[in-house]
Amino acid sequence: MRAAIAIDVESGTPIHRQIYEAWRRGILSGRFRKGDRVPSSRELALALRVSRSTVTQAYEQLFAEGYLETEQGSGTFVSGELQQHALQPATNAKTKATVRSVHLSKFGTGLVRDFIYPPQPADHICFSRWSPDIERFPLGTWRKLLARHMRTPNRKLLDYAREAQGYEPLRREIAGYVARSRAVECTPEQVLILNGSQQALELCARVLCDPGDTIGFENPGYLGTRRIFDAHGVKLAPASVDAQGIVVGEIAPQARAVYVTPSHQFPTGVSMSLARRLELIAWARTQRTVIIEDDYDSEYRYSGPPLPSLQGLAGDVPVVYCGTFSKVMFPGLRIGYAILPEALVAPFRRAKWICDRSTPALDQAALADFIADGHLERHIRRMRRLYGQRRAALIDALRQHFGERIEVIGEAAGMHVAVRTSETQLGERAQERKVQIVSTRDYYFGKPRRDEYILGFSGLSERSIREGVKRLAGVA
Ligand SMILES: Cc1ncc(COP(=O)(O)O)c(C=O)c1O
Repeated sequence: MRAAIAIDVESGTPIHRQIYEAWRRGILSGRFRKGDRVPSSRELALALRVSRSTVTQAYEQLFAEGYLETEQGSGTFVSGELQQHALQPATNAKTKATVRSVHLSKFGTGLVRDFIYPPQPADHICFSRWSPDIERFPLGTWRKLLARHMRTPNRKLLDYAREAQGYEPLRREIAGYVARSRAVECTPEQVLILNGSQQALELCARVLCDPGDTIGFENPGYLGTRRIFDAHGVKLAPASVDAQGIVVGEIAPQARAVYVTPSHQFPTGVSMSLARRLELIAWARTQRTVIIEDDYDSEYRYSGPPLPSLQGLAGDVPVVYCGTFSKVMFPGLRIGYAILPEALVAPFRRAKWICDRSTPALDQAALADFIADGHLERHIRRMRRLYGQRRAALIDALRQHFGERIEVIGEAAGMHVAVRTSETQLGERAQERKVQIVSTRDYYFGKPRRDEYILGFSGLSERSIREGVKRLAGVA
């Protein structure tokens, strides 16, 4: 017998899946009609030269989904129950036309761009990422801590979380950590564990703003947050950033909330001065505005003591403090947190539950131990030293090869450096010289600066940094 379907043993798709798909597609497209006889599993196995159990596995799936039926004594058939109108030929053109006609919500229509990391060819030196050096992460320790929770099965970790707010021991550890490192004042009950600080920002948009509301935003400012508010139909009112941080006098008075990155403004690298912090808090108090404090890489400060968080200074002014483990551990972990004023805890917690129930529990348990056993702060100390050296190497190389032609702006902090240059077309020349740097152009509302770039240094060795700057200057 010739097989009614074809399979490709090289394709990488399991054979039972290919058989299932072929019958399913054949039935839906009308190639196999209801009542058609289907070869027995033995016949088809012989024709396709595969094991009978492979065919049986595919048939069982087709029976379970109602595509096939058996008639006692006479064999297997395409199900007579299938409605003919449901079996329209599913050609590609038809499928595409149907998809095009689906109505999208305002939110769905607002999602116009995928985020794509630009490719990083192996022969390029890429200052275009500001991620942690993942090679330095103590993976062995992390593995042991994960295994600890896998070995002693804690049923609670495997079930739906009892509370969307996050694993209680981790909330306790985070409350202690932010108090020690950022002078944040909170109890574990104010900590909400989330999938990265990106989710904290997403929940801010959902819980604090209606479409058409206004939010005060740094100009230039972080695109990741900007896209969230855009997609929710929230108007962004830009306020410029000077050497002390956001210019408070420029924040729209009707803003529901104001979004700031005070430790290390993204992208300029400016740290908000204490005077400006107090001015912003006083302004928010009179305007009754919520402050969203995105403290994404505050752990890395290379000179002088860190300035206390806005949250710790704000008193009665509501601050949503957003923190993340992406920069101090590794971004794939996808764990961040929001520290919330008491009145916002319940709405944020409910929004998190609706969104995705909870953050993966095993990772939360391992992370609680990682902090409690001192690994986190030890790792941060090491990385701060390492990134501090890398930053120093970058500044030194820039001075040596560009002198006055490049000015470093912002504070000695974070994982990237912002520069202004008198060189024209530095970006284009970098590309020709196999170096990647990022223009701040896209981060501006309105007219962008053309002379400003950011250079990420945390993931590059000192050697690559020096070589990269030499290439950029055209001396290598
Ligand atoms: C300014 C700023 N905020 C927030 C984030 C989001 O971090 P995550 O969602 O990984 O915690 C980033 C990531 O790079 C960032 O640069």
